Amino acid sequence: MTANSTTALQPAPGAPPASSDFLTDVIAGLSSEPRTLLCKYFYDERGAALFQKICELPEYYITRTEIDILDRHRAEIAAHLGPQINLIGLGTGSGTKTRILIDALEKPAVYIPVDISEKQLRKSTARFHKIFPDLEILPVCADYLQPVALPSPSRKATRNVVYFPGSTIGNFGPDEATEFLRRIANVCRHDGALLIGVDLRKDRDVIEAAYNDTAGITAQFNLNLLARANRELGADFDLQHWLHRAIYNSDVGRVEMYLISQIDQAVHIGDYTFGFRSDEKIVTELSYKYAPEGFAGLARKAGFEFQKIWTDDARLFGVFYFTST
Ligand code: AVI
Repeated sequence: MTANSTTALQPAPGAPPASSDFLTDVIAGLSSEPRTLLCKYFYDERGAALFQKICELPEYYITRTEIDILDRHRAEIAAHLGPQINLIGLGTGSGTKTRILIDALEKPAVYIPVDISEKQLRKSTARFHKIFPDLEILPVCADYLQPVALPSPSRKATRNVVYFPGSTIGNFGPDEATEFLRRIANVCRHDGALLIGVDLRKDRDVIEAAYNDTAGITAQFNLNLLARANRELGADFDLQHWLHRAIYNSDVGRVEMYLISQIDQAVHIGDYTFGFRSDEKIVTELSYKYAPEGFAGLARKAGFEFQKIWTDDARLFGVFYFTST
């Protein structure tokens, strides 16, 4: 079966349209209980640069472990994905991992990177054109959390394979993750597949160190949310009076990242005033960790059949391969 010529990552049926308005989301999040700021707003230019630094931290095992797994098992992974595929990369960023994958693939036909950062997309596309001159590359600058219409390749591909690296799926709650995978499953119909990187459950100490690094980069990354609200919305968060903290909630298997008010204070954003008590928290990110069976079960509900997991020796991270049912 050839891949669909036009496919789309559609929103979950009945889901409310996701707001892309920073101000609306900040006001809504700070008015809710618990107070929340959405983690998708971490990634302005400064936030993206800080995230790049996080990926290189000694404590943040996620990125280097995933790269190592891909590197070690590239031939086997490529054999499972098959020849002449249409590879759809979601949030593939600078493309380090995708490059390893495409290098190993047998005559890949098409590569469709979907990324919200135009700068990064342009850079990685230019690089990939040079490295893989025979590959049809169709970059899409979009927020893949919203409906995205994928372009129609001119080359014929054997199947659609969605690649979603980095354990970004962990930043969705389990129900949201299932809904999101269901949307991906739509793209993978007709013998398609999903290759996805997922952080696995492990010792609390290892996880908490990764999100509370000694150099304080994750703290800067977290606090940049407030700095961004100051820059873009004219808010008056005083960064001196906020503290970063990340804890691992082992009951539910997730990291909870907070900004904690250090004093009683008031913050103004446009016409709104928000009072914070000393010690009051804003939830800024949840990062779920999965046992392999747990993640396979979640993907099954979304229409995927588990085929294979590749891990590192310490079983820190998993690269899962699913086929669509
Ligand atoms: C993007 N995402 C998978 C990262 C994570 O580990 O949840 C974001 C991050 N937050 C703090 N450090 C890294």
